[in-house]
Amino acid sequence: MCGIVGIVGNKPVAERLVDALKRLEYRGYDSAGVATINAGRMDRRRAEGKLFNLEKRLSEEPLPGTTGIAHTRWATHGVPNETNAHPHFVEGVAVVHNGIIENFSELKDELIADGAIFNTQTDTEVVAHLLAKYRRDGLDNKAAMLAMLNRVTGAYALVVMYQDDPDTIMAARSGPPLAVGFGKGEMFLGSDAIALAPFTNEIAYLVDGDCAVIHHGGAEIMDFAGKPVERPHQISQASAFMVDKGNYRHFMQKEIYEQPEVIAHALSHYVDFSSYTVREDNDAIDFAKLRGLAVSACGTAYLSGLIGKYWFERYARLPVEIDVASEFRYREMPLSQDQAALFISQSGETADTLASLRYCKDAGLKIGAVVNVKESTIARESDAIFPILAGPEIGVASTKAFTCQLAVLAALAIRAGRARGHLSAADEKTMVRQLAEMPRIMSSVLNSLQTKVEALSRDLSKFKDVLYLGRGTSYPLALEGALKLKEISYIHAEGYAAGELKHGPIALIDENMPVIVIAPHDRFYEKTISNMQEVAARGGRIIFVTDVKGAAASKLPTMETIVLPNVPELISPMVFSLPIQLLAYHTAVFMGTDVDQPRNLAKSVTVE
Ligand code: AGP
Repeated sequence: MCGIVGIVGNKPVAERLVDALKRLEYRGYDSAGVATINAGRMDRRRAEGKLFNLEKRLSEEPLPGTTGIAHTRWATHGVPNETNAHPHFVEGVAVVHNGIIENFSELKDELIADGAIFNTQTDTEVVAHLLAKYRRDGLDNKAAMLAMLNRVTGAYALVVMYQDDPDTIMAARSGPPLAVGFGKGEMFLGSDAIALAPFTNEIAYLVDGDCAVIHHGGAEIMDFAGKPVERPHQISQASAFMVDKGNYRHFMQKEIYEQPEVIAHALSHYVDFSSYTVREDNDAIDFAKLRGLAVSACGTAYLSGLIGKYWFERYARLPVEIDVASEFRYREMPLSQDQAALFISQSGETADTLASLRYCKDAGLKIGAVVNVKESTIARESDAIFPILAGPEIGVASTKAFTCQLAVLAALAIRAGRARGHLSAADEKTMVRQLAEMPRIMSSVLNSLQTKVEALSRDLSKFKDVLYLGRGTSYPLALEGALKLKEISYIHAEGYAAGELKHGPIALIDENMPVIVIAPHDRFYEKTISNMQEVAARGGRIIFVTDVKGAAASKLPTMETIVLPNVPELISPMVFSLPIQLLAYHTAVFMGTDVDQPRNLAKSVTVE
């Protein structure tokens, strides 16, 4: 995830900005830059690699000025080098950005046709050119900012500085977080409270759709139509060096809401958003030559692997043998060297998963690891590492790691499908475009679900048993929903393939056991509806998680219906994860359990 800092100060800012970036290093980056305005002139220093290189540049060529912005970049569009490092300058406008401008290609074509000269491969530069165009068209700086915000689409946090207005900095949020810091005669902006901790602990978090103009006397916050909005000030508990809950009550809640940002980040490592293709990688696993894939993991990681199995088999025609790691190596399944083995683990330290990895390594298979911790034991013992780049996941119940694992597995399944000749270039473009739209869709879903899910969780917390049903890739999601609920609220929950209902579980159905049915309007919808009818006919209470088309097509009575946008089948597991995560979270909050550290659980099970 990129890091953003801005200061409208009353003393030199360059060094303070770089120090603030250091507190955002945990987010991961590959280049950095800082820009200030001094005596009416904007200037910048940028450097590839670690912040040390930027500090060296600054010591060689100091940057005076009391207003400035700075950025640590995790490359999404364009290689990590000085040219692509932020801030980007166009005609006296400086921009830093975290996230993805989804429609940057069409905007870039439009701007080039209008005479714009681009110097970088980034999507961010489009924002700077757009602002410069609006200013040339006669709009003032704030109007230009609002016009730009109404043109770009995607999941983004933006901070903008204008050379001709050295006493203000503008910012906007639509996805990745951004906070305003209130100082004495100085004002600050940062990706989170950690970055702002040494300057101030009085902060206000922007919400999606907010635009802020900060100046020495304070901040004006408005919506993208320019209508003023109020955001509460709060006293942050962030210290300079701990990962902070931000304005969330629990780490789990923060990590649920971080998903649009971290998924954009994870995807950018695997797909090229300008050509909508999956990046080739010279990793040790050549999907074209494989006869099969053996996959093993534990818990939520196993369930992401189960969804991945559907994708590898459907899109790449690659047979997948998957099992939970505690069973995998004891089955003594026949393995051959024309298979590869893929291990999925957030921590990269889970003992059972590591033992299964070593079992496959001993059998001579190439080993791949889908991990969140690149220097973990599982990563170190693998031939190919597929990082999920979710950032630190503190809550014991895995949320953002799950959806980032899915994003990575989807990209790998497309790569495998292309390599094995089962996906055309057109298929790839369509599917990668669907992945690219995910952060924006997830961001809007998170903004729309809160109230309804919180109210529903209050009802759910009164029950002792809950059943989750799903078909296709919604079946592992039903298992994940049940795991989430049981592990943090301690309510017994089971996930089942909806088609299995008649083979036993239907004996359980009565008004005391809510049935959560996960059913986007996909090719399984009609069959799942008939399972729902079987439940309704026995007085079962249904919580229906579907999409707009699914809600319109069903006349069945439900305890509640959660309606998500219609989304392509490929991304429905990630989008439909959100309500089941939030349902578990809010139910646990009502139950008063220790949401981040549930009883008996550890974040990483390093014993077998
Ligand atoms: C997920 O909510 C659980 N806390 C747990 O099942 C977890 O997914 C499992 O222990 C695997 O951990 P890992 O991804 O670090 O290997």
